[in-house]
Amino acid sequence: MQKNNFAVIPRHVGIIMDGNGRWASARGHKRSFGHKHGVKNILPVAKTLFESGVEYLSLYAFSTENFMRPKEEIESLVELLKNAIKTHGEKCLKKGVRLVVSGDTTAFGKDLHDIICDYVERTKIYAKPVVNICLNYGARQELCRAFNLMLEKGATCANEELVEECLFNSLPPLDLIIRTGGEQRLSNFMLWQASYAELYFTDRLWPDFTKEDCYEALSWFSSRKRRFGKV
Ligand code: IPE
Ligand code: IPE
Ligand code: MG
Repeated sequence: MQKNNFAVIPRHVGIIMDGNGRWASARGHKRSFGHKHGVKNILPVAKTLFESGVEYLSLYAFSTENFMRPKEEIESLVELLKNAIKTHGEKCLKKGVRLVVSGDTTAFGKDLHDIICDYVERTKIYAKPVVNICLNYGARQELCRAFNLMLEKGATCANEELVEECLFNSLPPLDLIIRTGGEQRLSNFMLWQASYAELYFTDRLWPDFTKEDCYEALSWFSSRKRRFGKV
């Protein structure tokens, strides 16, 4: 599918970038090889979506539960992330993209945490577009953290505005969630922000997800009739 003028463009897209391990295994390689190729795919996909008019992109890169993976895989991912954040951070600075992070990145060690904080700080001068990288992120953990922050603020009663103020970042609701890799689940990804998101599942493994696949997803989104509870 080629780019065309889609009737409606999602303002906020989330991507659950799944399938790196299977992509590598199918080629007789270690899982880390798949992660390497998965990281390479972020830039062209982000470029395609922003050029199409998307303003916010949330990327699920590492869940809180992913810490239960073998030590070797986590260590190789942390190394990969150090380089990836530098490459993508520089690109953000050059292109005027704001980089924000959701999740507790201190768990990855001081080196990576400091690199992330540095780019988050330096790209604060930009308003939009925004890339939100979810690292050591879990929606349940984000909500518990928000409830605790509310208590610290002295709140005695919750409301939607208050919860949203206490999330990792101030982002609009997700309009479209794309999950690659064939699974049809959210795996603890932005449950609050996903309440009215359209869910697009594809069997394509993340390193194989192309620009054309982005257009396919945008075209599908454009054809959805969103009702938000109304008739
Ligand atoms: C997603 O790919 C990337 C991360 C979770 C870090 P996977 O590593 O889950 O790949 P599969 O699902 O095992 O193929
Ligand atoms: C979701 O993928 C997390 C990321 C893509 C970062 P997983 O591979 O961890 O999800 P499950 O375990 O299949 O639900
Ligand atoms: Mg997976």
